[in-house]
Amino acid sequence: MSAPDSRFVRACKCLPVDRTPIWLMRQAGRYMAEYRAVRKQYSLIEICKKPEIAADVTITAAEILGVDAAIIFADLLLPLEVMGLPFYFSAGEGPVVEKPVRDAAAVSALRVNRAAELGYVAEAVRLVCKHFGSKLPVIGFCGAPFTLASYMIEGGGSRNYVHAKKLMYSSPAAWDELLGKLVAVTSAYAVEQARAGADVIQIFDSWVGCLSVEDYRTYVLPRTTNLVRAVQKAGVPVIYFGVDTASLLPSMKETGAEVIGIDWRTPVDLGWQSLGMKGGVQGNLDPVLLFADWEKVKAGASNVLARAGERQGHIFNLGHGILPETPVENVKALVKFVQEQPLK
Ligand code: CP3
Repeated sequence: MSAPDSRFVRACKCLPVDRTPIWLMRQAGRYMAEYRAVRKQYSLIEICKKPEIAADVTITAAEILGVDAAIIFADLLLPLEVMGLPFYFSAGEGPVVEKPVRDAAAVSALRVNRAAELGYVAEAVRLVCKHFGSKLPVIGFCGAPFTLASYMIEGGGSRNYVHAKKLMYSSPAAWDELLGKLVAVTSAYAVEQARAGADVIQIFDSWVGCLSVEDYRTYVLPRTTNLVRAVQKAGVPVIYFGVDTASLLPSMKETGAEVIGIDWRTPVDLGWQSLGMKGGVQGNLDPVLLFADWEKVKAGASNVLARAGERQGHIFNLGHGILPETPVENVKALVKFVQEQPLK
C-alpha cells in the first residue's frame, strides 16, 4: 500500500472522509489529447508492455484531472496471452481472440503457470507508486472470471453471449475448470500489483449483467468469491464492478468485496439499499451525460451525491468508462465540482 490514509482508501474501508473521493473509469483514454499523442507513437499493447510509458500515461491522466486515485494503465485482456490465447485490437471491432475457446479440450490446454510474465504491469504500478508516494493512491485491476471467460469463448465483444452461455449450460465441468484457471492467473496477477504498491484492486465484471440471478449464483459467484478472497489476502480492499447489474447486486456483495461498483441505471441509494447498506459503493453518473451542457452534468453529479447522502463509503465515479469523444472540459469540471462539495 502506498497511500493507506488517503480519502479514497479510507472511503473504500467506509472510514470517515472530509469529502467524497472521485476517480473515473478509463480516465486515461482517447478523449484526452495527451493520450492520443502517445497513441500516435505506440499501440495500446505496446503502451501496456512498456512500464515507463504505461506509468507516464497513468500519471499524466491523473494529474491533468486532479482525481483522488490513479488507475494503472493496462488492459483487461492481457492475461489471455499468458494463458495461451493471443489477441489483437482491430480498428472499429475492438478486441479479437485469434482462436476462441469453444470446448473442454481448449479449456484444458490453457496455461495457468505463466502469470509472472505479466510482471510488466506490476512494474508500471511500482513506478506510479514511486512517483506519487503517499500523495495519491494507485488502483490495480483485473478482469472477473465471467467477463474474461466470455471474451475467451466469444472471441471478442458479443451481443447475446450465445457461445459462452452454451459452454456454461452444456459443459458445466469445462466451464468451471475455465473459471478456476482464470482465478488462478488473475489472482496471482492482482496480488503482484498489490505487492508492487497498489492500494486497492478493482475487479471488472463488465459483461456479467447478461446473466440471470440464478445463473450468476450457480455458475459464477463461487469462483468470483475465490478471486475476491485471494486478492484480499494481499491486504488490499476490493472494488467489484459490473454493468447492468441491478438484480445481481445482492449476490455480487456475497463475494465479500468491500466496495460494489454500480452502473448508472440504478440510483446509488437504491443500489446501496439492495446491498443491505453494507460496505462501500462506487458510481454512478451516466458517462453519456458528460456530452450534455455543463449545467446538466452538474445537476446529475449533485443528484448522485445527494442520493449517497452523508453515509461513509461512497466513491464518486461514472457508471461505466469515459467514452472516446467526451468533452474533456466537462470531465475536468466534474472532478472539480465533486471535490468542492464537503461532507458534514
Ligand atoms: O481506466 C483506465 O484509465 C485504465 C485503462 C484501462 C484500459 N482498459 C485501457 C484501454 C482499463 C481499466 C481497461 C479495462 C478493460 N478493457 C475493460 C473493462 C472496463 C470496461 O469498460 O468495462 C474491457 C472490457 C477491456 C477490453 C477492451 N479494451 C475493449 C472492449 C476496448 C475497446 C476497443 C475500442 O477500440 O474501443 C479496449 C481498448 C482500450 N483499453 C482502450 C483503452 C484506453 C481504448 C483506447 C485505445 O485503443 O487506445
